[in-house]
Amino acid sequence: MVDDPGHAAGPGEFPESPFSRVARQPLILGLFLPVQSGGWSASLLPRTTDWTFDYNAALTRRAEALGFDLVFGLAQWASKGGYGGVSKYREDSLDPFIAVTALSTITERILLISTIHVLFGPWHPLHIAKFGATLDHISGGRWGINVVTGYSPREARMFGGQHIEHDRRYEMAGEFVDVACRLWGASGNLTLQGKFWSLEDAFVTPKPRYGRPVLVNATGSPAGIGYAATYSDLVFITSPAGHEINAALQVLPAHNAAIKAAGAERGRQLRTIINPMIVCRETDREAERYHQAILDAGDRGAIDGFVGHQRSGDAVAWKAHGDRHRALGGNIQIIGSPEHVVEKLIGVKQAGCDGVQLAFFDFAPDLGFFGEAVLPLMYQAGLRLSDAR
Ligand SMILES: Cc1cc2nc3c(=O)[nH]c(=O)nc-3n(C[C@H](O)[C@H](O)[C@H](O)COP(=O)(O)O)c2cc1C
Repeated sequence: MVDDPGHAAGPGEFPESPFSRVARQPLILGLFLPVQSGGWSASLLPRTTDWTFDYNAALTRRAEALGFDLVFGLAQWASKGGYGGVSKYREDSLDPFIAVTALSTITERILLISTIHVLFGPWHPLHIAKFGATLDHISGGRWGINVVTGYSPREARMFGGQHIEHDRRYEMAGEFVDVACRLWGASGNLTLQGKFWSLEDAFVTPKPRYGRPVLVNATGSPAGIGYAATYSDLVFITSPAGHEINAALQVLPAHNAAIKAAGAERGRQLRTIINPMIVCRETDREAERYHQAILDAGDRGAIDGFVGHQRSGDAVAWKAHGDRHRALGGNIQIIGSPEHVVEKLIGVKQAGCDGVQLAFFDFAPDLGFFGEAVLPLMYQAGLRLSDAR
């Protein structure tokens, strides 16, 4: 894509872009916003975690004050009752594109990434090009799109559509993003006839400040990695060995290397980021005890419902994740004292991940404790730089 003169340059090609600043950190630090009720954890243990805008706005401001690089919102289309259980897990949710637009006006530095199912409903690349340029302008080049193709047949049907075969979805998403990139790069009207989308005399201005918004996707499949190699700046990865941190650290080096090699083959630098769930207390014992309390209060109906939902889809990236850990949830789990957490984060970096996007059980207090007790150790360990310019 970089070689195509019809495309906008990527934000990584502008040293002064917010993305380039973030990419100079030894370990990119993100926060997975709980814009869905229940966040990542199907547990009934009392906590403050809340899907509301005010709660997420406070978290985002706190994360920015702590020097976090990005916040991220996922998008799911749940039916009434969410994924079930006593908690009606994830029944309430904010759309991350709209929520992030509002967050951009109350923040100054942090990157804001929202998930969009580009193949659901009547999205056209011209929509994303125009809306994205608008949000890029409002945020000062801090917006990124996590392009998802929709792994869930049930979600596709909500839009009156049919589930599209896995690899074909990436082919379609590739053309979708390709057309948007041409619109962001074009200095005049654009007319083109694609396989899936067409334009006639289409034009978008203002242009994004640093060529185009940050492009992200989340994948573990060959087709998704092929898509990422062509288009993405950041790739959300999952652990091919499931949630257990030590098992994950064994397999992540080869996984990261394969993804980066796919980018390098196309002359592009891909950065990978993974989402750990952090349970941290003063001591390993206290963290384990808290973890056990979260598990003991597991919302069985919600766990079964969520696992069933994931299994009804065709996502390759979550195949190794069973249901044992779902009361706490997340992709990999790091549970222990601040020293233990930092030791594992060093492991994640050494395994080739360029960043982490953290989730917590009780987001507000747990983020506060992370800021006080873990972050200083990350600076000491060289995982974070106070001035990455
Ligand atoms: C960190 C992360 C966030 C994701 N967010 C969403 C999301 O918001 N909505 C969604 O439908 N899928 C989401 N996914 C799933 C991906 O879009 C994709 O379906 C999954 O990773 C499988 O892709 P693959 O089959 O190419 O491996 C996410 C995956 C990861 C790892």
